[in-house]
Amino acid sequence: MTSPLVLGIETSCDETGVALVRGEELLVDSVASSMDEHARYGGIIPEVASRAHLEAMVPTLRRALEVADVDLGQVDAIAVTAGPGLVGPLTVGTAAAKALSIGLGVPLYGVNHVIGHAAVDELVHGRFPDRVMALVVSGGHSSLLLVDDIATSVTELGSTLDDAAGEAFDKVGRLLGLPYPGGPHIDRLAREGDPEAIRFPRGLTAAKDQGRHADDFSFSGLKTAVARWVEARQDLGQQIPVHDVAASFAFAVADVLTAKTIAACRRHDVGTLVVGGGFSANSQLRDLMAVRCAEAGIELRIPPIRYCTDNGAMIAALGAAVVRRGLPPSELDLPVDSSMP
Ligand code: KG4
Ligand code: ZN
Repeated sequence: MTSPLVLGIETSCDETGVALVRGEELLVDSVASSMDEHARYGGIIPEVASRAHLEAMVPTLRRALEVADVDLGQVDAIAVTAGPGLVGPLTVGTAAAKALSIGLGVPLYGVNHVIGHAAVDELVHGRFPDRVMALVVSGGHSSLLLVDDIATSVTELGSTLDDAAGEAFDKVGRLLGLPYPGGPHIDRLAREGDPEAIRFPRGLTAAKDQGRHADDFSFSGLKTAVARWVEARQDLGQQIPVHDVAASFAFAVADVLTAKTIAACRRHDVGTLVVGGGFSANSQLRDLMAVRCAEAGIELRIPPIRYCTDNGAMIAALGAAVVRRGLPPSELDLPVDSSMP
């Protein structure tokens, strides 16, 4: 028997994503982004993003159907991001998903965006083993998830207490006068700097944080330390060694994410780690995680970068897992939840 054909819709931030998945096979992943419009303002403007989703939804859906050579009538289920994310953008995506569900007479499944960032890896590296650890890092989230079943049993062990990793990069980028989003620019500068030039603090890694905050992250103290360091030199009229600042900052973030994630894998006796979210494009994190996972004997699964940033494939993948498990569909009055746990 062939698996059901699941259409996934993602609109939680600035990307409009539509994808088709059958089982673990990705038929098409169509994405439009409004980032160029937000870059001018130095941050995502929800109102602008909502309007962009409204304009992009039908063309993105059409393109997906065309590329996959699929008729809407062949779709068996609709999966849509119900949260977390920006309320306006989520509302556009869920409204489209509800309309399709009613029009096609197929079930609707509201799913969690952060879990989707982990689920997409099943399309790349195959079905998860029984138990995996997932680190989801982006501009909006930095979460450590213990996954016993991607559709039914995901426990958030910890998350950031303040800034997400990508958010900290974007703020330090602004401080260094880099364009928005600063993350990729810092990554590029850091490759030519000395990661040990400046010893920046590692949040929540002290012995006193090992209990309650063992699996949590904190990057705002680090961001402030970078700001103080740069401002002190500026006050003295000194040149800022941007490559070394970028490298030392990026290394501090990668060091914390890597050390705490591997410690959690050990503590929970998990042998496979999935890393997802837009920030997993970061080369300092990818390199350090690869080295330390190899040393620790942990299998590391990181999808290609186009599946790490927001997309429809992650939502279709999670939808397919939910359908496979036979879970009940969502009601048609499915609400959006901007801070969905
Ligand atoms: O997942 P994503 O596309 O959107 C959110 O849900 O936030 O992640 C975007 C975030 C931004 O903060 C961006 O600066 C960061 O990921 N990012 C990077 C890199 N590529 C994207 N940060 C550091 N290094 C990169 N190479
Ligand atoms: Zn995301």
